[in-house]
Amino acid sequence: MGYQNLPFREDSVFLVTGGAGFIGSNICERLLSMGHTVRCLDDLSTGKRENVDMFADNPSYTFIKGDITDIETCKAACEGVDFVLNQAAWGSVPRSIEMPVYYERVNIGGTLNMMEAAKTQGVKRFVYASSSSVYGDSAELPKREGREGDLLSPYALTKRVCEEYGKLYFKLYGLETYGLRYFNVFGKRQDPEGVYAAVIPKFIKQLLRGETPVIYGDGKQSRDFTYVENVVEANLKACLAPKEAAGQSFNIAYGGRESLVDIYRSISKALGIDGVEPTFEPTRKGDIRHSNADIAKAREMLGYEPEYDFDKGLELAINWYKENL
Ligand SMILES: NC(=O)c1ccc[n+]([C@@H]2O[C@H](COP(=O)([O-])OP(=O)(O)OC[C@H]3O[C@@H](n4cnc5c(N)ncnc54)[C@H](O)[C@@H]3O)[C@@H](O)[C@H]2O)c1
Repeated sequence: MGYQNLPFREDSVFLVTGGAGFIGSNICERLLSMGHTVRCLDDLSTGKRENVDMFADNPSYTFIKGDITDIETCKAACEGVDFVLNQAAWGSVPRSIEMPVYYERVNIGGTLNMMEAAKTQGVKRFVYASSSSVYGDSAELPKREGREGDLLSPYALTKRVCEEYGKLYFKLYGLETYGLRYFNVFGKRQDPEGVYAAVIPKFIKQLLRGETPVIYGDGKQSRDFTYVENVVEANLKACLAPKEAAGQSFNIAYGGRESLVDIYRSISKALGIDGVEPTFEPTRKGDIRHSNADIAKAREMLGYEPEYDFDKGLELAINWYKENL
């Protein structure tokens, strides 16, 4: 695979915040496989030690249990770091509607602390997780950078504010920031448990355990489901992108569109389960109807080229859950 040849200096040091979470742990794994030094900063609030335990014996890996809402922790973690890949945040649109103050503190306050720490410690690049939720109520498809609508949740607001800080930190202080708007990521180690779990791992878990999955709305709502390895790739490409792309945000997705009913059927079929019908419940607040990304900007400016289409990603994810649930 091409990524082994990416032109990073061998002694590059990466800090992955939220590294014990779903996406963060996949980033850590890839970087370690490339032989780089990786620091993982995570407070284990939604992440899990078991997501990173397998790296513990690797001398290039350090785990820091810490909270990004504490600026001193952020500064200490950034010391000697070349690239920050900031993934730490609280996810879930519905949960953010229940606890907006908490989201403000962690997602905005924490990311601002990390940018400030990166600036103070002379970090080369700051790549951070944004979200497709910044498109809000815009019905335009595909979603294009610069064509955002009104926001629908506190979660989306936190991501938009982080993007504004990203722009400012580049303009004012020269910190090279790159915002990556992930679209419905899925893959190994995504948490299938709890009311706020994402739909793909939840369906897989429920079908494997003989439970009846719930679909909110009519199931015809659609998303650009993106396999996690594509997101890892985007993070690496952003670290190497030309400086002209700094201070901006980019759609990171595959560029396809699947409805919930379609993915339910695909998962049932792949698991060889027949005749289990989902239960339908009312649409949840803050949910958007359709989402599908135009990834031309990331392609052009970051050299992002997603390798895994939905079917390939789903096959890999299902195989992983079969072995690990
Ligand atoms: N999964 C998706 O589909 C998706 C879509 C769009 C954006 N994102 C963004 O991608 C990032 C990673 O999401 P994920 O799906 O891997 O979620 P996750 O919950 O698995 O990972 C987030 C990690 O951040 C850690 N964390 C939370 N608060 C922290 C704090 N105050 N200090 C230190 N660590 C903290 C958690 O313990 C967890 O390990 C998040 O910023 C999320 O908003 C995810």
